[in-house]
Amino acid sequence: MSQNSHVTLECRNLTKSFYSTDPPTQVINGIDLTVRKGEFVVVMGASGSGKSTLLHNLSGMDRPTSGKVLLEGRDQTSLSDAEMSRVRLRRIGLIFQQAYFLSNLDVRDNILLPALKAAPKEKNAAIARVDALMERFGIAHVRRHGITQVSGGQLQRASICRALACELSILFADEPTGALNSSMTTEVMDALTDVHSEGTTLVMVTHDPACAVRADRVIYLRDGLLVDSREMGPWTGEQSARREDDLLAWLREKGF
Ligand SMILES: Nc1ncnc2c1ncn2[C@@H]1O[C@H](COP(=O)(O)OP(=O)(O)O)[C@@H](O)[C@H]1O
Ligand SMILES: [Mg+2]
Repeated sequence: MSQNSHVTLECRNLTKSFYSTDPPTQVINGIDLTVRKGEFVVVMGASGSGKSTLLHNLSGMDRPTSGKVLLEGRDQTSLSDAEMSRVRLRRIGLIFQQAYFLSNLDVRDNILLPALKAAPKEKNAAIARVDALMERFGIAHVRRHGITQVSGGQLQRASICRALACELSILFADEPTGALNSSMTTEVMDALTDVHSEGTTLVMVTHDPACAVRADRVIYLRDGLLVDSREMGPWTGEQSARREDDLLAWLREKGF
């Protein structure tokens, strides 16, 4: 496997089975993937094709049954649970369809929490960084709001701030706009596009071609296999309708 500084994430012959069922369910059936540094990869495929499971195993939230995951050349699969948690806290950002926030903390303290846990001695730096992020993503004015007093779009932008509060290697997002209306979806995709444009490596699951169209590359899963991949070229915001039509045609060939 490469020790290439242009590669952020690699997995080789990744499989995942769940043994809670009888017979066991093999959900990921041998996936090879290389994500370049700074690349924005979108994962698509029918419901149940293994997208979330793949993300869980790439991000260290779960352990593969076999195969290897390398983050910046380092094998994640051989780490202890404690080491894996540390890597996840400091180097891996995660965003889900639902933002998981603590209801007894305001928006800003929720965003700060993991950064303070990752580096307790660097509190002032974390606060400065979080305040700048909240400003940048247009949620500074709700910093003291409770989490039930902000919109879904604001909450997802808060999730992005929380993820970026540490110096990330990679950001994973699993259907981050899946619970949002179309204007909030645009808000969140604009924020993620901005994150990508300043160099963050991003792997996002979506079933929405209008979101996928912003990626550098779309990969397609079927029954736990990576069956096809499409280089999109950099997103500039121009010709987005054309780009979406081309992507849709490609997806339809796959039965999407
Ligand atoms: N913890 C689990 N135990 C057993 N089966 C699971 C578990 N998690 C997911 N699955 C199964 O794996 C398949 C893929 O699930 P998932 O990765 O969530 O798909 P997707 O995100 O593409 O919709 C589904 O058939 C699902 O039922
Ligand atoms: Mg899923």
